[in-house]
Amino acid sequence: MDNTTLNVQCMSNAYPYPDGGTQVRMDAFPSLLLSYLDRLAMSSPLRILDAGCGTCAGTVAVAALHPEAEVFAMDISPEALSIAKVRAEQEGVDNLQFIEGDILDPYHLPGSDQGYDVIYASGVLHHLSEPRKGLTNLSKMLAPDGVMIIMLYGAHGRQSVNRFSRATNMLCPEESPFDVRLKTARDLLEALDETAVTYPYWKDSTPISDSEMVDWYLHVNAVDYKVSEVFEMLKESHLKFVRWLEPRAWCPEYRMPPGPARDRIEELTDIHRYSIMELLYNYPQLDFVACKEGARLRPSIELESLWKSTVEWNPQACCHNSIRRSGEQVWIDDTEVTVRGYPPYQFSGIYAALVHALCPSCAGGRTDFQRLNYFRDK
Ligand SMILES: C[S@@+](CC[C@H](N)C(=O)[O-])C[C@H]1O[C@@H](n2cnc3c(N)ncnc32)[C@H](O)[C@@H]1O
Repeated sequence: MDNTTLNVQCMSNAYPYPDGGTQVRMDAFPSLLLSYLDRLAMSSPLRILDAGCGTCAGTVAVAALHPEAEVFAMDISPEALSIAKVRAEQEGVDNLQFIEGDILDPYHLPGSDQGYDVIYASGVLHHLSEPRKGLTNLSKMLAPDGVMIIMLYGAHGRQSVNRFSRATNMLCPEESPFDVRLKTARDLLEALDETAVTYPYWKDSTPISDSEMVDWYLHVNAVDYKVSEVFEMLKESHLKFVRWLEPRAWCPEYRMPPGPARDRIEELTDIHRYSIMELLYNYPQLDFVACKEGARLRPSIELESLWKSTVEWNPQACCHNSIRRSGEQVWIDDTEVTVRGYPPYQFSGIYAALVHALCPSCAGGRTDFQRLNYFRDK
């Protein structure tokens, strides 16, 4: 392990990330992610790797929602992994294997022979001493028609975070003990109001956990990326960009009023359009899906054909129920059906219940997540 990796490991052991509860994240549904590709058949069981899993806040939800899948969670931090194990036990998850390992030096990982169908690399590559090598290592372990879900720090969107970090470092050098740096960062945050540079604007630093503060402002090794650099890095690792996890956030049609400027931006190639969008809007994180260079993307379907099939079985539709719980009572707040390439349809009241009835596995999960997605492949 090189010195940078050792420092990162040391920091992760002292401040395992994230703390707090298990999270059903936007990317928690591998079959939906895989539906972006034109795959001949689903492998059975699905093999999923979370590289740099931390405390598995997201991974445990993925494993819980896909009990048939084999999920592997890998991290350099034994502390983070031991928290993850407790989390998995508490959620009753038994299809998750934990591996202490380094993305820069992956030894033979279980499940890697046939390649993983899904690899998560969320918030980790930008902390490596050699991010490009890390991405190439993961690319080699991806199945030919697998998908990788990556989150990298966005250079433009992180400017305020970087400025705050630099100010903290000027008050308290990076060599100082972590508890002293943490106190400095907290004191500084308390002294600022909403006119200052911090993003997100945290008025009161007390509810923010130590691991969150350290991850945001005091990380021992972090770089950030522009869109053009992301595309370049993917190419170098024989990967290609599939889509943003939140495509609408990057779509001029959703963010700008009609007019000549929007028309001109829409005519550009992907890389130029996204490069302009990142200058105009705030993307502290670049969350996206990638696949192997040679994999075939599946085009969006026509709405007509959606209504001829049931929502439950259509691989390009995702049903999203907001469920509220109060004591023993559970009820549906609203339901959103999203068809790839179209704005979401919102249902409420009796219609929400109807859609919910079509997607019965939302009704009683074995976990207590507030928001449950439902998606099933053909
Ligand atoms: C910011 S946390 C993200 C955790 C998790 N992916 C998430 O999204 O909640 C980054 C994690 O990557 C791990 N990590 C850093 N360098 C690594 C490496 N070379 N190999 C494996 N894991 C690494 C850290 O220990 C830490 O747990």
